[in-house]
Amino acid sequence: MSPAALTPQPTFKVVPQTKCKDQKFNFGAVVEGLDLNDISANDVERLKETIWTHKVIVVKGQKDLAPVKHWELVTRFDPDAHQMHSHGDMKTFEKKGGLLSKSRDVYGIPGAENVRLIGKGYQGQGCNSSLIGKCDRVKTLTPALKIGQDHYGLKNIIIKGLTNDFHAEPPNDEEFQEGITRFQRWHIDAPLYARDPAWFTTLRALKLPSGPDLTIRWDDGSGLSMKAPPGLTAFFSTSQLYSMLSDQEKQLADHSWVEYAPHPYMWVERCKAPPTGLGLKSEGKEHTIEELGEYDEKDVKRYPFVWVNPVTGEKAFQVHGLAARKLFLRSSIDEEPKVIDDVVAIRSFLHNIQTRVLRPEYIYLPKVEVGDIVMWDNYGTFHTAVDYPLEKYGPRTMHQANIGASKGPVGPVPIPVVG
Ligand SMILES: [Fe+2]
Repeated sequence: MSPAALTPQPTFKVVPQTKCKDQKFNFGAVVEGLDLNDISANDVERLKETIWTHKVIVVKGQKDLAPVKHWELVTRFDPDAHQMHSHGDMKTFEKKGGLLSKSRDVYGIPGAENVRLIGKGYQGQGCNSSLIGKCDRVKTLTPALKIGQDHYGLKNIIIKGLTNDFHAEPPNDEEFQEGITRFQRWHIDAPLYARDPAWFTTLRALKLPSGPDLTIRWDDGSGLSMKAPPGLTAFFSTSQLYSMLSDQEKQLADHSWVEYAPHPYMWVERCKAPPTGLGLKSEGKEHTIEELGEYDEKDVKRYPFVWVNPVTGEKAFQVHGLAARKLFLRSSIDEEPKVIDDVVAIRSFLHNIQTRVLRPEYIYLPKVEVGDIVMWDNYGTFHTAVDYPLEKYGPRTMHQANIGASKGPVGPVPIPVVG
């Protein structure tokens, strides 16, 4: 019997993302024929493999997915994991989330707290924030349509979404109102302290803005820009980034590691981004470690620069510059590492590498419709929100869930154990 015959085939269909001639990103797929309210153990395994293989997938048609089933699926992806969102419970997230929690509103769905309501604007069907209290449609909606007025038990929610205020020099408001915007903050969904990053993040669209395409500008002097529909998430592949390194750089990346700050998002909560949303501007605004209060040394995270994909074996250059406090550079196992602990030097080192993939042709903004759920590999991609003017395009409602992994990233070679 051939090995393939031992693995039951999935019942769903995977269609790799088609690309225009100018697009060079090498990941993405659309999945059809699944009901995530009722998915077999075999299909869960095949779906996991599909995410690891294609990195970003859009699972079509999950309009009726119950939040408890959404969370259940996330736990089935990683059954050995502690049953908790990777950023902890809502209390921990609000207290220690720093830059992540203070810049936006996040709500746990009652009864499925690890599924988080995120988005932008008033969540009432067909209404925007300026219509609260005046909109007759809110009063006449059937219970099933009362997203927001009673969103799974959350009443009359107005969400402050992620905005370009994170930028040191945000785009001017007049242009923004016309649909000119930026990448908000390139990142991986990773606590980088205490818990290991989720393997995957899942993000279901319940309400989407609509209108003409936005123009996303780099505004870094490169003149680069790209068009995209509103309300989407942008991705690049850090495996593709790794493939752009020279042999010498690959050798260095394969053997080096990064140490993240304790409570990293509190550490940089006052910092702002450069215009591309990648990394941080160095303005001396980081807290001192003493200012962060108590922390446990054993919870400080040290990860290899390069994370190996458990299914494809691809290597990804996966360093989160926003939270990096020390780099340990070496090109072989025996070499004494060179330590970089100055944030200006750390950010400059990473900027030189990571901006290579930050070009329109390598960026994928998967198109989603209401009910679709995007799932991505947090160990091989970076992603970002893209803000849009609420009044022109309308609100956005999303359910996000991930789980702190049972097993953290594995590099090509072991890194020294500290402590
Ligand atoms: Fe994220």
